[in-house]
Amino acid sequence: MRPSFEYVIKYDKPKIIAEIGVASGDNALDMIMNYPIDYMLLVDNYLPYTDIANNNIVSLEQQNDNLFIMLKKFLPRQYMNKIVFSYISSKEVVKYIPDNFFDYIYIDGSHEYNDAKQDMELWFPKVKNNGYISGHDFNGYYESVTIAVNEFISKNSENGTFINVNNDNDDVRYRSHDWLFKKCIKY
Ligand SMILES: C[S@@+](CC[C@H](N)C(=O)[O-])C[C@H]1O[C@@H](n2cnc3c(N)ncnc32)[C@H](O)[C@@H]1O
Repeated sequence: MRPSFEYVIKYDKPKIIAEIGVASGDNALDMIMNYPIDYMLLVDNYLPYTDIANNNIVSLEQQNDNLFIMLKKFLPRQYMNKIVFSYISSKEVVKYIPDNFFDYIYIDGSHEYNDAKQDMELWFPKVKNNGYISGHDFNGYYESVTIAVNEFISKNSENGTFINVNNDNDDVRYRSHDWLFKKCIKY
């Protein structure tokens, strides 16, 4: 289980969650199999993209394979009635989500700086007060994500708290840390 979700289920009871960037569904399946969620939104457009860490082009054919692998994981399971799949881009689907809706959002979509920054800005209002926004690949391979997260945290220093859920002794070359931010707005 990813460290941010492990922390959140240890100290809270998230019922309504989302993952932005699902790929073959490993993390999503891990969450729903290990914790009794009421509702999970899975957002992935499955379009070709370049993985900027290694300049690897993920083709449309690979994306179709990922989508098929993901669906095969979920379709036969009893908790299918708790999942909504969205195959449009994160910045489009977010327009249809009410503010203050999710207990926990995990951002792991595009790792380009502008996209990562945009995902954080667009999805943060969708988190309930005292809920959590988090994501993958912080302080590791993806400098773009690390910069975007650090900017997000300093911009929102009045709106919540960063929680360190990682082991900083891990070798930086091999780690892909989670980041976790608890929303706490004093109205
Ligand atoms: C690193 S993978 C996700 C891995 C997954 N979270 C896991 O841990 O198992 C990133 C995914 O983000 C998706 N993605 C990239 N840009 C997107 C966008 N604008 N909207 C929705 N999904 C996007 C890609 O299609 C890809 O499948």
